[in-house]
Amino acid sequence: MIIALTGTPGTGKTTVCGFIAEHSQYRKQYLIIDLNKLVIDGKLYTEKDEARNSYNADMEKLEWRVKQIISQAPGGMDIIMEGHLSHLLPADAIIVLRTHPVALRKRLGKRKEYSFEKVKENANAEALDVILVESTEKSSSVFEINTTDATPLAVVKSVIFIIESLKKGSIPKDFLPGKFDWIDLVEL
Ligand SMILES: Nc1ncnc2c1ncn2[C@@H]1O[C@H](COP(=O)(O)OP(=O)(O)OP(=O)(O)O)[C@@H](O)[C@H]1O
Ligand SMILES: [Mg+2]
Repeated sequence: MIIALTGTPGTGKTTVCGFIAEHSQYRKQYLIIDLNKLVIDGKLYTEKDEARNSYNADMEKLEWRVKQIISQAPGGMDIIMEGHLSHLLPADAIIVLRTHPVALRKRLGKRKEYSFEKVKENANAEALDVILVESTEKSSSVFEINTTDATPLAVVKSVIFIIESLKKGSIPKDFLPGKFDWIDLVEL
C-alpha cells in the first residue's frame, strides 16, 4: 500500500517517520520516502524561491523518481511518502497531520530559518485547511490526525492504525476528515 503522509510544515511528518524508521518492528514493514530530501539531493526542483527560502519542486521529476524507488522496494512493504507535497503524488490513501494554528506557530517559531512572515503564512494555511482541501480534491481516501495534544508516539500509532485498518479493508472512521476544526480562530 502506498500512503501519502502530508500536512502543513511543522505538523510532525518527519518526526513520525523518524520514529518509524528507528524502530525495528516498524522499519521492516514500512519504507519511508522523504520527499524533501529527494527534491534537494536529486535537484528535483525548477527554481529556488528566494523570498520563501525554499525550492519549488519539479513534480514530474519527483513523481518519476518516487516511482523508481517504489519499483525497487522489497515486495510486501508499505510505502510512506513523507512531505507537504506527498498528497499531490499517486497514493492509495492520504493521511493529513493537523496542528492547531496557535500551537503550529509556536513550533515553527523555533525554526531559525523561518521568517516571521513564513511562520504566519503556514499557520494561516493550516487554519484554512489548505492541504486537507487539496487532498480531498485528489483522493476519496483521506484521513486526518490531530497532533496538537498528541505525543509523537501517539501520532505514530494512529498512522499505523489507519494503514493497517485500510489493509484489512475497514475504514478507520475516527480519522475521517471533519472531526475537528479551528473555527474558534475565525473572527466574525
Ligand atoms: N506530536 C508532537 N507534539 C509536539 N511537538 C511535535 C510533535 N511532532 C513534532 N513536533 C515538533 O514540531 C516540530 C516540527 O516537526 P517536524 O519537523 O516533524 O514537522 P514536518 O511536518 O516534518 O515539517 P516540514 O514539512 O517543514 O518538514 C519539531 O520541533 C518537532 O519536535
Ligand atoms: Mg519534515
